[in-house]
Amino acid sequence: QTKPLIVVGSINADLVLEVERLPKDGETLGARSLNTFPGGKGANQAAAAARLEHPTYMIGQVGTDANAALLRDALSDAGVHLDHLKEVDGPTGTAVILLQPSGENSIIIVGGANTTAWDIDEAALELLRSAGAVLLQREIPEEVNVHVASIAAAAGVPVLLDCGGVEGPISSELLKNITILSPNETELARLTGRKAESQEEAEAAAQVMLGQGPDTVLVKRGTSGSLQVSKDAGPLVQAIYPVGKVVDTTGAGDCFTGAYAVAIVEGKGASEAMKFAAAASALCVQKAGAMPSLPHRDEVVQLIEDQNA
Ligand code: RIB
Ligand code: NA
Repeated sequence: QTKPLIVVGSINADLVLEVERLPKDGETLGARSLNTFPGGKGANQAAAAARLEHPTYMIGQVGTDANAALLRDALSDAGVHLDHLKEVDGPTGTAVILLQPSGENSIIIVGGANTTAWDIDEAALELLRSAGAVLLQREIPEEVNVHVASIAAAAGVPVLLDCGGVEGPISSELLKNITILSPNETELARLTGRKAESQEEAEAAAQVMLGQGPDTVLVKRGTSGSLQVSKDAGPLVQAIYPVGKVVDTTGAGDCFTGAYAVAIVEGKGASEAMKFAAAASALCVQKAGAMPSLPHRDEVVQLIEDQNA
C-alpha cells in the first residue's frame, strides 16, 4: 500500500516582476511585466509530488486575503489533499520575485500566514505518523519544524529537510531528526562555514553535515547537477538534463526535492531518484512561474526515455 507524502511548509503568492537587471541603490527601474503565480517552497514541493501522481497532503496556513483562494485552487488542481490546510487571520505569505532575462531570480519574502502561530491538531499529527515521508523547508517557524520532525522520527517516518528559506543555522534539535538533508551549494556553504563550489568541496562539506544527524545529504548544485553523500553508501552524482531555453528557475529546487521524495517513497534507489528529480527540474525551468511549471509524470518519464534512447 502506498503511503502518502506529507509536506509541512510555506504557501506563497509569488509576485513576479520581470526586470532587465537588479536595481542599484536609490535607483528606480521599470519592470517588463508583473504576474502573480502560486508558489511557496512547501506548496511547490507538495504540488510537484502530487503532479507526479503520488498521494500528497499539505499541512500549512493561508490567510484571509484574495490570494488564499489562488493558492488553494492551484494546490487542489495539482491534486494535493488540503484537509489539513488552515486559514488564519491576515495576509497569505507573499514572495516578491525579481526575474532576470537569464531566468535567475532574487526573492523577498513576507511570511504572512506562514509565520503566524501554528497549531497542528491531533488528526494532522496522526497523518504524519502514517506517512511514507515528511518534507520540510525553512519558511515556517523553526519550532514547527522541530515539533513535526520529532513526531515523525518517533514514528519511524523519514524526514527530508530542504534547507531553502531563512538563512541561519539549523538547530541541533531539528538536525538530529532529519533523515535526508537537502541544501543547495550556497546553503551548504553557509551551514558548514566551508566552500562548497567544486564537487570535491561540496562533497567534503556534505560529509560534515552527515555527522550532525542526517543519514543522507543531497546537494543541489544548480547547473552542475546534484551530489549525494550517505552514511551507508558511496557518493552519487547526477548531471542536469540539457534544456533548451531557461525561462524561469523559480521553484526548480522545490521540484527537484518533491520529485526525489516521490521516487524514494516509491522504493526507487537513490541514483534513480536523483535522475527522476533532474528530469523533473529540467522541465520546470523551461516554463514561467513556480507551481505552474511543475511537470506531470508522463513528461518526466518521456524525457528520461528520450535521453536513454
Ligand atoms: O523556492 C521557490 C519559492 O521560494 C517561490 O515560489 C517563492 O514563494 C519562495 O518561497
Ligand atoms: Na519555472
